[in-house]
Amino acid sequence: DKGGWSSFMAKEINEQPEAIANTVRGRTAGRSVEIPELTALGDDRLRNIDRIIIIACGTASYAGQIGAYAIEQWARIPVDVQLSHEFRYRDPVLTDRTMVISVSQSGETMDTLMAVKYAIEQGVTTVSVCNTQSATIPRESDAAVYTHAGPEVAVASTKAFTAQITALFLIGLHLGRVRGELSTEALAEAVQQLEELPEKMRVAVDTHAEITQLAHWMADTRSVLFLGRHVGFPAALEGALKLKEIAYIHAEGFAAGELKHGPIALIDHGQPVFVLVPSPRTAPLMHSKVVSNIQEIRARGARVIAIVEVGDTAVLPYADEVIRLPLTDALFEPILQVVPLQWFALELSTAKGLDVDQPRNLAKSVTVE
Ligand code: M6R
Repeated sequence: DKGGWSSFMAKEINEQPEAIANTVRGRTAGRSVEIPELTALGDDRLRNIDRIIIIACGTASYAGQIGAYAIEQWARIPVDVQLSHEFRYRDPVLTDRTMVISVSQSGETMDTLMAVKYAIEQGVTTVSVCNTQSATIPRESDAAVYTHAGPEVAVASTKAFTAQITALFLIGLHLGRVRGELSTEALAEAVQQLEELPEKMRVAVDTHAEITQLAHWMADTRSVLFLGRHVGFPAALEGALKLKEIAYIHAEGFAAGELKHGPIALIDHGQPVFVLVPSPRTAPLMHSKVVSNIQEIRARGARVIAIVEVGDTAVLPYADEVIRLPLTDALFEPILQVVPLQWFALELSTAKGLDVDQPRNLAKSVTVE
């Protein structure tokens, strides 16, 4: 049941405030974080971990990349993110102090399941971030931390993605607390950010009308670039994947700092570029770097669509379009920034008369290797 929406994807984008609230619920208390499934592993085991590897495919891998920044920042454990289907082939260095966190909406993705099985054989601690109760991957893992996003039907993942980032943030906070790496204030501040997210997410969802208009003007676009820095980089990759997947448009995401190492040669008159601009309040250095990147591409003819936090006026002279999102800490911004990108892909797909929920050549759950 699409609940009155034109597609499951539209319904699921709209459900993100609840998906996040449900993922956080029961895991924060007294301005702290406790995930019972991690507590069950034993605090000594969690204190002993010296390396985390996140394994996932597609959108889930981008959630993993964003989660990695938060886990490193809060728990001070080095985190690598690897694609599930590449993991075994590199003969990964795994010890009994390694934790492998798999991220999978379905919990049945064969590439990820095989990687988890390999990790289990090597004797590492396995944690599954999954949206589907009792799926194979969480059943096989030592601990399951469910995202409570509700069933996701559209092939293009939306609410599962933002719920996965939320769950990984909770894991980072839990580990940081148990390992004594987080001050009470930092923990309380992060909990507040998480609890305020659903309301801010509603504002991000409400960008739909302006994005629809933008997509309408851009219906003939052949190629779109997405730029981000830090956590904005995986969010840019996710924006590009959405567009390829459901609108069949060539799209690429880049780390903004990488531009001058090659991709800036792609910029030509009228090339649309979405830029995820970090918060000037909480990430002033990154913000000024990204504003310079915008100036560089604008000078070469790019059509800049800037996604900024409300009140950021520094980009106004250089951006062709500005999408404003509520204030949040820089680390949390991708959760909001990805929403207009989801709408953009959906509306371009619709404008091209495509089946938003069932793109060609793709299945919701990839159960072959
Ligand atoms: O079920 P999973 O989270 O393991 O699926 C992983 C990817 O196949 C999935 O995220 C895919 O990239 C989506 N169709 C993207 O929208």
